Amino acid sequence: MSAGVGRFIVLEGIDGSGSTTQTRRLAASLGEAGHAVLTTCQPSSGPVGTLIRSVLRGELLGPASSAGAGAPRPFQWSTLALLFAADRLDHLTNEVEPALRAGQVVLCDRYDLSSLTYQSLTAPDRASGSVSRADETVQWIRALNREARRPDLTLVLDVSAEVAEARRQARGGAEELYERRELQARLAERYLQAEALVPGDPLVHIAADAEEQVVARAVREAVRDALGI
Ligand SMILES: Nc1ncnc2c1ncn2[C@@H]1O[C@H](COP(=O)(O)OP(=O)(O)O)[C@@H](O)[C@H]1O
Ligand SMILES: [Mg+2]
Repeated sequence: MSAGVGRFIVLEGIDGSGSTTQTRRLAASLGEAGHAVLTTCQPSSGPVGTLIRSVLRGELLGPASSAGAGAPRPFQWSTLALLFAADRLDHLTNEVEPALRAGQVVLCDRYDLSSLTYQSLTAPDRASGSVSRADETVQWIRALNREARRPDLTLVLDVSAEVAEARRQARGGAEELYERRELQARLAERYLQAEALVPGDPLVHIAADAEEQVVARAVREAVRDALGI
């Protein structure tokens, strides 16, 4: 129907907000409407993204000692911020931009808003509550991602930390690096003010505590309203 539209849509939210579920559902709905869709995510499945996923799962071990194999290798928040930014540019070059040039609608499960929320909240200066230092942290992460193209639309799935935690527990699987209750609650608050982190980006909040189909409808409507597709 409307081939060649070439739009870049990002879905964001805390762990368990449903970003993966809603990315999949939106892809199906846009596909039914005749759009060519690429569904993808960050961290990507590329070389840097694969490395990041190993770090998040605690699979990379530090140096072995006389006591035996090493414990999970610690990565500083700033090292991770650099890896996420590197993965983002690699993913854009190799997957996202070619698809956009081919006229596809690209749906990306997480983008630099995740770096801005997660890395800024895990920077140690946040623990001291220093807002001005936190702002510097945000500026630095923004600078790292300066070359990353802006999305045509960012959908932020707002969900309470409690609902998201219950969904993660029901989903099962091992806990990852950022999946701690207090951090997730602070992330949920940050996402509520997401426009301050990506000023100028077209961004729509979606109430995502509701059941899957209800959220899917809200997501689909937001895309139609904002992009006309
Ligand atoms: N609106 C919803 N209501 C109830 N459960 C949901 C909803 N959205 C997603 N889920 C379930 O919650 C879990 C987490 O969803 P997922 O899409 O993986 O979240 P995320 O990618 O944001 O971490 C999955 O098991 C999924 O089936
Ligand atoms: Mg997910």
